[in-house]
Amino acid sequence: MTDEVKQRKIEHVNIALERDVSAPQQANWNDIRLVHQALPEVDLDAVDTSVEFLGQRLRYPLFISSLTGGHPDVLMINRNLARAAEEYGLALGVGSQRAAIVNPEVSDSFAVTREQAPHAFLIANIGAPQLIAQERHAPFTIEQVQRATAMIGANALAIHMNSLQEAAQPEGDRRAFGEVEALRKLVPQLELPVIAKETGAGVNREQALILRSCGVSAIDVGGAGGSSMSALEAFRSQSRGDEQTMRIGALYRDWGIPTPIAVVECGVARLPLISTGGVRNGLDAARALSLGASLVGMGFPFLKAASQGYEAVCELLQGFIAELKVAMQLSGAASIQQLHEADVVVTGETRAWLQQRGFEDELKGLAQRRWKRLRPGE
Ligand SMILES: Cc1cc2nc3c(=O)[nH]c(=O)nc-3n(C[C@H](O)[C@H](O)[C@H](O)COP(=O)(O)O)c2cc1C
Repeated sequence: MTDEVKQRKIEHVNIALERDVSAPQQANWNDIRLVHQALPEVDLDAVDTSVEFLGQRLRYPLFISSLTGGHPDVLMINRNLARAAEEYGLALGVGSQRAAIVNPEVSDSFAVTREQAPHAFLIANIGAPQLIAQERHAPFTIEQVQRATAMIGANALAIHMNSLQEAAQPEGDRRAFGEVEALRKLVPQLELPVIAKETGAGVNREQALILRSCGVSAIDVGGAGGSSMSALEAFRSQSRGDEQTMRIGALYRDWGIPTPIAVVECGVARLPLISTGGVRNGLDAARALSLGASLVGMGFPFLKAASQGYEAVCELLQGFIAELKVAMQLSGAASIQQLHEADVVVTGETRAWLQQRGFEDELKGLAQRRWKRLRPGE
């Protein structure tokens, strides 16, 4: 098991960098249209992108998503990401720490993040399937979970929900019954806030309420439309000659709730939301924030840049920040709070889905925020 998990970590990174693991059906960010303000009365250079997230001030509403760790060859990637998180004042996640829990030798590939980013908001990571008894392993103990958070001096713990990935993994954990109860028991035992995090299939309204009842402090909606862990596992299964999981991984490559929809659905929980899954530029980010996300998460673009070097990560960030600021200015938003109050029209497939799911009032509310402020009585 020790070497199996370590080996999987390096395979994930190599496959993501060498093959196309994106979901063919996009997240449909173009369905989300911020309403242009011809006289925005906001200076581009005066736009304030800072936000407060779970008690800490971040300079940008950006989370470098949980990606890697657990193999000596990925230490450099985490180092580059951590340097950037420190420099730009961002939140940073590490990949699943299971590898280091079963094999402490690889802990430094995670611990490097805190060494390089003494002030950044760091998010530890373990999987919901590892909280319950599986055929091949016992549930993690509270001590093991605490070891993961201590390993990086974490500010929060993400519990990733990845049933689809496990189903497409040759050696995946197949059991999911009892995860809710395990989460409910775990949260009060931890001193840190817990973030429930999907990994590409999204969280819906009803599940968001269950998560809230478990006491989580935030939800990363981890929607469909970006990197597909199912596609990633299909490639791994193929290389192992496991026909059945390869077919499952390929068949379900597109499965799930697209990210913008998941943001609106999860809004009912009234918890801080992270919008991850197919966010590819600052405009996508502005759209997610206008729908109610507190932060946006980005995975693959950071993985690619960090594998090239620290400068590439900085370049990615500078472009992203410049794009975000333009969207904010043109929407008349001088701050992230004002972006949360900007007018946004939802069209296309995203609208059709949300209407069928009973979100008509929310859609109308999003599109008429300014009008309602101008004419409060109507
Ligand atoms: C190579 C790779 C490894 C990942 N490993 C983890 C992980 O260990 N834990 C986790 O919560 N999410 C993991 N993810 C999911 C990402 O955090 C993120 O949700 C996903 O990549 C979607 O964002 P994107 O479309 O911007 O890439 C991984 C993603 C990739 C591409």
